Amino acid sequence: MINDSNHNDLYQIHNQSCYGLPEIENESIDAVITDPPYGIGFQAHKWDKALPNEQIWKDCFRVLKPGGYALVFSSIRLMHHLMLHLENSGFHIKDILMWVFLNGMPKSRDVGLDIDKELDVESTKTGTYNYVQGYKKGGAESYRAADRYATDRKEEERKYRYEPASEEGKNYQGWGMGIKPCYEPIIMVRKPLPSGVTVAQNVLKHGTGALNLEDTRIPYERGEGKVGHNPHPKGRVTGNVLRTDPFDDGYDKFFLVPKVRQHADDFNHHPTKKPVKLMAHLAKLVTHKKSIVLDPFTGSGSTGVACVNHQRRFIGFEKNTEYVAIAEKRLSSAIQSLKEKL
Ligand SMILES: C[S@@+](CC[C@H](N)C(=O)[O-])C[C@H]1O[C@@H](n2cnc3c(N)ncnc32)[C@H](O)[C@@H]1O
Repeated sequence: MINDSNHNDLYQIHNQSCYGLPEIENESIDAVITDPPYGIGFQAHKWDKALPNEQIWKDCFRVLKPGGYALVFSSIRLMHHLMLHLENSGFHIKDILMWVFLNGMPKSRDVGLDIDKELDVESTKTGTYNYVQGYKKGGAESYRAADRYATDRKEEERKYRYEPASEEGKNYQGWGMGIKPCYEPIIMVRKPLPSGVTVAQNVLKHGTGALNLEDTRIPYERGEGKVGHNPHPKGRVTGNVLRTDPFDDGYDKFFLVPKVRQHADDFNHHPTKKPVKLMAHLAKLVTHKKSIVLDPFTGSGSTGVACVNHQRRFIGFEKNTEYVAIAEKRLSSAIQSLKEKL
């Protein structure tokens, strides 16, 4: 088990499959915070082909202390399955948090162009375009390639804009199949308290069962603290909507954290890395300093970095060796910064 006498012992990452959570003792974990495969085949990554087997949630239930929370990211499409898996494993569903952002990319195509193709009509070329944003398969390398202006590219690499040429295609120009994704759900569940035990008794015995609302208050907007009946000096209680971008309404009362953008030179080319600031908010919400957080699907280690930054201990599992190397690098640099800070 992790001990905290030395900061280097603040985390462990197991480069192996999480199933069974080997070596993790029963009721030894304070919280699970994880971003599992969504089961939607994101960018054709093999590991995202299917939802994790229900077994992993039973394993999480086994290792969590009574009253321990789990925060589990999900796709919208398969959230109902994941929620059932969690419930079948013994968890009580407590809430659905929504992480809201403005820079999600709609996955769609122009049905008008598809109709041209169906009718064997050549669509009309209207110009070229650059693809410079969003996630690219193959990580930084392919991203770098995409980052060049379309006009600099060889003819065969150039991306063209088209519009429908057939009458039927024109009739459906701009129609598509997907709207812009603006939120990701985070399912909040809790391992039930033992029968007859109150929250206070459970907190005294295990340190789990309640939410750390004090450390996750959202500061007021400028001047707003003076408004309202009994304004708390640190801000309002965190909500179940975590906002990422200002909506320009002049009244930005929810949590702001930007979605991570992929840059060509990032050594961390994990395609679905989560913002550390968001993970830190979640870690603070369900734990105290020195609590142990488990992430069975560690990826590039964003949950772990957030935990180390806020002096929570971290145990991760990740089966992909390349991602483990990235996570190790990020975590040791977080430990270094923590040592300099303390
Ligand atoms: C959505 S990603 C996590 C990304 C992470 N939140 C980050 O910020 O980098 C899910 C990860 O789970 C890993 N994974 C999938 N099945 C696994 C298993 N059975 N055991 C351990 N890791 C697994 C994948 O390799 C992938 O890196």
